Amino acid sequence: MLFQPPIAPQYAVLSQAELAKRISARKAELGSRVVILAHHYQQNEVFQFADFTGDSLMLAQVGARQEDAEFIVFCGVHFMAESADMLTGDDIKVVLPDLSAGCSMADMADIDQMEDAWAFLTQQCGAQPIPITYVNSSAAIKAFCGGHGGACCTSSNARAILEWAFGEGDKVIFLPDQHLGRNTAYSMGIPLDEMVLFDPHRPDGGLTPKDVADARVILWKGHCSVHGLFTPEQCDEIRRLDPEMDILVHPECAWEVLQKSDLAGSTEFIINTIREAPAGSKWAIGTEVHLIDRLIRSYPEKNIRSLAAVQCLCTTMYRIDLKHLLWSLDEIAAGRVVNRIQVDPETTNLARIALKRMLANVSSTPVAIK
Ligand code: 13P
Ligand code: SF4
Repeated sequence: MLFQPPIAPQYAVLSQAELAKRISARKAELGSRVVILAHHYQQNEVFQFADFTGDSLMLAQVGARQEDAEFIVFCGVHFMAESADMLTGDDIKVVLPDLSAGCSMADMADIDQMEDAWAFLTQQCGAQPIPITYVNSSAAIKAFCGGHGGACCTSSNARAILEWAFGEGDKVIFLPDQHLGRNTAYSMGIPLDEMVLFDPHRPDGGLTPKDVADARVILWKGHCSVHGLFTPEQCDEIRRLDPEMDILVHPECAWEVLQKSDLAGSTEFIINTIREAPAGSKWAIGTEVHLIDRLIRSYPEKNIRSLAAVQCLCTTMYRIDLKHLLWSLDEIAAGRVVNRIQVDPETTNLARIALKRMLANVSSTPVAIK
């Protein structure tokens, strides 16, 4: 995880209104030189300044289309900015306004662990799994997958990518999110007893060669700390409170939560489902709080609440605030580039193979996982 050094103290004393006013002015001044991208989990104060918003897949697609801008200011997390850098030409600089905006799930798979896991699976177990990484992973992990016949996926196209992978081989290792991997494979009809969990903190992953030989899907023991806060008991409580309420969750939630839900799909799927739902429909949603709050505000005629009583906040995404956004724009205007996210060419070349496979397997509408 990277660390953001303190920015100039003058930003700390500005009110939210003043920060917003200055960002508007800077954005107007910089014009088409700068494109601001924001993920749906971003706080509203920042989200309002985005030229494009989306889930991880949509932002990767939008990033890849940028040709004319000099800068992409990425209001998301580190792995998203890395992907944008790797999918754009060298003349576009990608800036992450706060370097501490990492992803705890991506940090659960480092490249040394992956190399050790691969040596165990291939040399000691004689397996040849297809490596599939959720896009929520480092550039080095993406490069590993690209260099070993694998691909990236997002929660919008995990199923399409797993189907592709099973056309390439008979076994998959899916990282770093065990839940997205398990939920997607299960939705394809693969039973739980054909999936095993690989613990990257143990040299053998906690598995025997027979476990590996018998498995079709090897799941990396990683998870999202935000979506991990949703529980099956919360689903029971919703059913008790209001049997007419539908439960809609993100597939980073645990399998047990999905079994008690009505629908599951990516961030974009959640948004589409609520947009198309009739007035008066009732929804308990299991995803990041800023998206739920935005849906509540956007659709007052629908009855929307969080599945959890507690606020499930992505604290790293929340690092991107108005102060850091203004600071990064001010620096660009002054001819200085701060917080540039730049992946080395060797890693980029291999990671692009995996990213391009992801982008080649996209359906026009986000697909439900349940
Ligand atoms: P999507 O944007 O693919 O839905 O993923 C959610 C998420 O956790 C982003 O980090
Ligand atoms: Fe990472 Fe979870 Fe935050 Fe997404 S919501 S950026 S997976 S910690």
